Amino acid sequence: MGWPVAHSLSPRLHGYWLGRYGIDGAYVPLAVDPAAFDAAVRGLAPLGFRGANVTVPHKEAAFAAMDSLSETAKRLRAVNTIVVADGRLHGDNTDGFGFLENLSAGAPGLDIRGRAVTVLGAGGAARAVVAALTDAGAEKVRIVNRTAARTDALAADLGGPIAAFGWRDTAAALGGAALVVNTTSLGMAGQPPLELDLDHLPADAVVTDIVYSPLETPLLAAARARGNAVVDGLGMLLHQARPGFEAWFGRAPEVTPELRAHVLAEIGS
Ligand code: ATR
Repeated sequence: MGWPVAHSLSPRLHGYWLGRYGIDGAYVPLAVDPAAFDAAVRGLAPLGFRGANVTVPHKEAAFAAMDSLSETAKRLRAVNTIVVADGRLHGDNTDGFGFLENLSAGAPGLDIRGRAVTVLGAGGAARAVVAALTDAGAEKVRIVNRTAARTDALAADLGGPIAAFGWRDTAAALGGAALVVNTTSLGMAGQPPLELDLDHLPADAVVTDIVYSPLETPLLAAARARGNAVVDGLGMLLHQARPGFEAWFGRAPEVTPELRAHVLAEIGS
C-alpha cells in the first residue's frame, strides 16, 4: 500500500519468491489515497489478505491503525509490514532488519561494536537505521542533517549515543567512522547529487546508501574510487521483505543473486 505505488519493486520481488517456492498466492500493488488509508487498511482482513507492506506516505498512519505492534514498530512509531491474524492487524517494522542484513551480507568483515558511525539524514528512513545501528552496538551515531531540529527530535525519540552535525561539519562527522550511511534522497535519480568530501573518512570505512536507483550512487562511486568498501541499497529492500513473506506464506525466503538479477531487470526497464 503506497501513494503512488506504481514504481514499487515489491510485487516483482514477492512474485519471484511465490514462483520459486511454488506457493499459490499473489502480491499486488494497492495505490491508496492517504485520505482513504484507514478504511483501506481495515479492509485487508475482510478481503482475505494475509497482510501487506506499507510504504511512503502511510507508515505512520499504519502505526496508528494497528491492533497490536512489535517492539520495533512501537519504538519507530512507523509500520512497514502488516500481518492479519484472526481478523486483527499486527504491525512490525523490518527496515532496520533489512538494513543490517544487507550490511552483513555486503560487508561481512565490518564490526561496528565500539565504533563511531555516521548517518546522513534524519528523516523516517534514518530512524530505522539509527535504531538498528544503536542496537548493533555502535559506540556513537553521528547524524548529519540540514535541519538540526529534526536530528534533535530523532535523538529525543530514540535515545542512545547520538551526536548532531551540520553539513559544514562533515570533516568531524567522518573522522574515525567505521561506516557511513546515506538515508537522504540526495543522489537519487531526479534529485540533487550528494556532495560530500570524503577526505577525512578512514580507508577501512564501509560506505552504504539506501538509495538504489541508481544502484551506484555518486556517493558510492566516490567511495569506491578512493578504495573504501561499498554496499548498495538494493539489498536492504530485498532483506526487509523476508519477515513479511515468511509470516504471510509460511516459508522463510532467501535473498539470492538470481532474485537480485530478477529485481534489477525491472529497474533497468
Ligand atoms: P524518508 O522518510 O525517506 O527518510 P524524509 O523524511 O523526507 O524521507 O527525509 C529526507 C531526508 O533527506 C531528510 O534528512 C532531509 O533533510 P531535512 O531534515 O533537513 O529536510 C534530507 N534532504 C532532502 N533533500 C535535501 C537537500 N536538498 N539537502 C539536504 N538534505 C536534504
